[in-house]
Amino acid sequence: MPRSDFSQWFAELDALLVSQRRWWQLQPFHHRQCCWAASDPSLEAALAKLSDERVAELDGDSALLAEWLSPWIPEAAELRRLSQLPSFTAESSTPLLPPARMAEGIPGRKWQQLLAFVQQIPVGRSNVLEWCAGKGHLGRLLSSVQGREVKSLEWQAGLCAQGQQQALHWQLPQRFVCADAFACESASHIRAGEQMLALHACGDLHTRLMRRWSQALDAAAVSSEAPKAKDKGQEPSRLSLSPCCYHLIEAEQYQPLSRAASASALRLSRADLQLPLQQSVTAGAHVRRRGEQETLWRLTFDELQRDWRGVDEYLPLPNLKKSLLSGPFEVFARWAFEQKGLFELAERCHDLAAEPYLTRGAERLKLTRRMELVTHAFRRPLEVWLALDRALYLSEQGAEVSLSTFCEAALTPRNIFIHAER
Ligand SMILES: C[S@@+](CC[C@H](N)C(=O)[O-])C[C@H]1O[C@@H](n2cnc3c(N)ncnc32)[C@H](O)[C@@H]1O
Repeated sequence: MPRSDFSQWFAELDALLVSQRRWWQLQPFHHRQCCWAASDPSLEAALAKLSDERVAELDGDSALLAEWLSPWIPEAAELRRLSQLPSFTAESSTPLLPPARMAEGIPGRKWQQLLAFVQQIPVGRSNVLEWCAGKGHLGRLLSSVQGREVKSLEWQAGLCAQGQQQALHWQLPQRFVCADAFACESASHIRAGEQMLALHACGDLHTRLMRRWSQALDAAAVSSEAPKAKDKGQEPSRLSLSPCCYHLIEAEQYQPLSRAASASALRLSRADLQLPLQQSVTAGAHVRRRGEQETLWRLTFDELQRDWRGVDEYLPLPNLKKSLLSGPFEVFARWAFEQKGLFELAERCHDLAAEPYLTRGAERLKLTRRMELVTHAFRRPLEVWLALDRALYLSEQGAEVSLSTFCEAALTPRNIFIHAER
């Protein structure tokens, strides 16, 4: 299938994700028993037999995971095939040569991502808008290697100030606009004939840019002053983005962008939209250990609260201050009960014998990780479904669209690159 036939590609992926929903549209964390114990007892037994090392090995290798799951989910291999994106191609074959010291202060992997992203951007002269720029590293690099004027829009004043200082230091034509991307006035910065950039603008932030870009181009097309790109030898309007944090949306449920996704039977909750992000190849050992302890304590608390409340139901907890994880579990449990307004139970934590609950929590953690492993076979397919929805939407708006990766997943798992020209 040609990878440019987004409709056919989407239809095939969508059909499989819909038919296989029972494997991935669930929250392993909320369950005390394996979700497939009744329907697939042999899978439950096989999962229970896996060592932690084997779980990590399967989790890190999608081909191996699809093969291991094939007795129960023969579709896993096809899903994997449908989630392969064309790999990145350097737009300019000559390596970028920014000043060596420009990388200073930027973590190594981030710098490599920036280089890879900028290599995808067609060489041009038009002005550039960097959407949700942070400190504007991307805009700075692009301005430096292509000599272009860049406007970097970011709402955190501190980041704008730091970015502006860097631009001055490198004597680059990069200007920061400190503004809320959602504000109506921000639309005025989105102009036809320019290059839009958005690297890892979360959820609604990048979809808002896509919609406003299409609207701006429609408006320019009907305006009598619209530049005739071909007549005047001008560059097309370009939009290049890499999406992330699909769950950071205002709506309760995912709002499809394209006609095809709107017609799909899939309804995606914010929790479903977190599945593609469950991949922590870039997290350091310390962060991973702390994350593991937090999950263990949340599950231990879940065991405790079900006992003490006498209600066999999951109770979601808010985000916590990481310092809570360095004290004893009893302090965490008290905090958790207080958060839910259960003050009598919070008081009882003074006399809590935590050991048996911590043992049950550890069992839950083991079960959770094994159920998650199954859902992880669907994490990239779902992400590609979301990327195709974006590509299809832009195509429907009259753009020529390409979909690829811009770097290896080891640099960032959020490595999808969508490029549109109109
Ligand atoms: C994940 S960071 C990406 C930053 C940068 N593009 C990069 O890749 O390094 C997302 C950025 O969006 C900014 N942001 C979040 N909400 C915003 C809003 N409503 N308006 C403008 N910027 C926003 C954040 O402050 C943050 O700098």
